[in-house]
Amino acid sequence: MILRVVFIPIILVFFFLSCKVDPKVKPHFDENELKEIIPTGWPEPVYRFQNNPINKATFELGRALFYDPILSVDSTVSCESCHQQFVAFAHSDHALSHGVANQLTTRNSPALFNLNWHPLFMHDGGVNHIEVQPLAPINNPIEMGENTVHVIKKLRRSARYKKMFEDAFGKGAEINDAQMLKALAQFMALMYSYNSKYDRVKRGEAEFHQDELEGYQIFQQKCNQCHKEPLFSDFQFRNNGLSVNPAINDSGRAHITGLPSDRYKFKTPSLRNITLTAPYMHDGRFNTLDQCLQHYVSGITNTVNLAPELQGGIPLTPSEIQKLKAFLATLTDYTLLTDKKFSNPYAN
Ligand code: HEC
Ligand code: HEC
Repeated sequence: MILRVVFIPIILVFFFLSCKVDPKVKPHFDENELKEIIPTGWPEPVYRFQNNPINKATFELGRALFYDPILSVDSTVSCESCHQQFVAFAHSDHALSHGVANQLTTRNSPALFNLNWHPLFMHDGGVNHIEVQPLAPINNPIEMGENTVHVIKKLRRSARYKKMFEDAFGKGAEINDAQMLKALAQFMALMYSYNSKYDRVKRGEAEFHQDELEGYQIFQQKCNQCHKEPLFSDFQFRNNGLSVNPAINDSGRAHITGLPSDRYKFKTPSLRNITLTAPYMHDGRFNTLDQCLQHYVSGITNTVNLAPELQGGIPLTPSEIQKLKAFLATLTDYTLLTDKKFSNPYAN
C-alpha cells in the first residue's frame, strides 16, 4: 500500500519531466540585431517590411512556428525538416525532399536566404509573395499534409502560442492565419547572407588568393549573365539544358503560366552557399559541383527554350573548373550557418 502511494507520485513526476509539452522558447540574441539590411551596392529589395514591422516578439513567433511540427498533420514534419540551418536552410543530402508519412516530393528544397530580393518563389515562380509562401507546404498533401484552418485551431489550443501572438500583435490579438504568415515571413526575411569571404573581399576586409581570383574572372565571363552578382542570381526563369526526366516531366515555369515559351524554364538559383546545398538543380539530380560544371561543359541538352547563352555549352578546361570551384567556395557564409537567432528554439 505504502509502496503504491510513493510510487505513483514518482511515476507522475517522471512522466511530466519526460514529456516536453510546452518547451520554452529561448532568446539567444540582442534585439538590435533585428533590422533590415541592404548591403552597399546591392539592388533595392522587393520585400521591405512596411506591413510587417520588425520586432523581437514577431521574429520569435516566426522562429517558434518554423521549428514546430504542429504545422504538419501528424506532428512529424516542421519547416526545418526540409530547410536546415547548417546547410543554409536547404535539405541536406536529399535530392527530393521527404514530407509526412515519408512521402517524396518531386523537387529539391531550395536554400533560404536573401529572400527579400526574390520577385517570385518556388522553382517555377508559383508563389508571388513571401507572406503567403508557407501556405504551399502546409497545405501540400505530400509536404505537411495539413490545412490552414486546422493549424490555426491547434495553435489556439496552446497557451504558449496565445501569449506569443499577443506579445507580437498586441493584447487580445487573435491567432489567425494572416498573423501566423507575417511572423513566418519576418523570420525568413531576416535570413540575410552577406558575410562570405566574397563579401569581405568586396568590402576590402579580405583578399582572394590566386586561384579564387582567377575563378572569379572566369565566373564573370561565363556565369554572371544569369547568376548575377551580388545576389548571384537575377531570379529569371531559364532552361539551362537539363535533360527532361520522363518519369516526372516537370515543365517548370510553364506549369504556372501555361505558356509554351516557358516550358522547362526554372528559377535561376543563387550560388551563395553553393558548396553546402547539394544535391543540385530543381530535382536534385547532381550530387556534386563537379557534376554541375561538367553539365555546362558537355551535358547541355537542346530541349525547347534552351537559354541562348548555353547553345553549344560552356567550354571549361580542368584547371578552369578547379579555379571556378575555388571561387564558388568563397560564397559560403558561415555567419548565417551559426547565427544562434536562427537556430532551433526548442533545442537545449
Ligand atoms: C517536405 C519538405 C518541405 C517542407 C516541410 C517545407 N518545405 Fe519549403 N520548400 C520545399 C521544396 C521542395 C520547395 C520548392 C518547391 C517548388 O519549387 O515547387 C520549397 C520552397 C520553399 C520556399 C521558396 C524558396 C525559393 O527560393 O523560391 C520557401 C520560402 C519555403 N520553402 C519555406 C518553407 C516554410 C516556411 C515551411 C514551413 C511552413 C516549409 N518551407 C516547409 C520543401 C519543403
Ligand atoms: C543561361 C543562364 C545560366 C548560365 C550562363 C549559367 N547558369 Fe547555372 N543555372 C541556371 C539555371 C536556370 C539553373 C537552375 C536549373 C534548375 O534548377 O533546373 C542553374 C543552376 C545551377 C547550379 C545548381 C544550383 C542549385 O542550387 O541547385 C549551379 C551549381 C550552377 N548553375 C552553376 C553555374 C556556373 C558555375 C555557371 C558558369 C560556368 C553557370 N551556372 C552558368 C542558369 C545559368
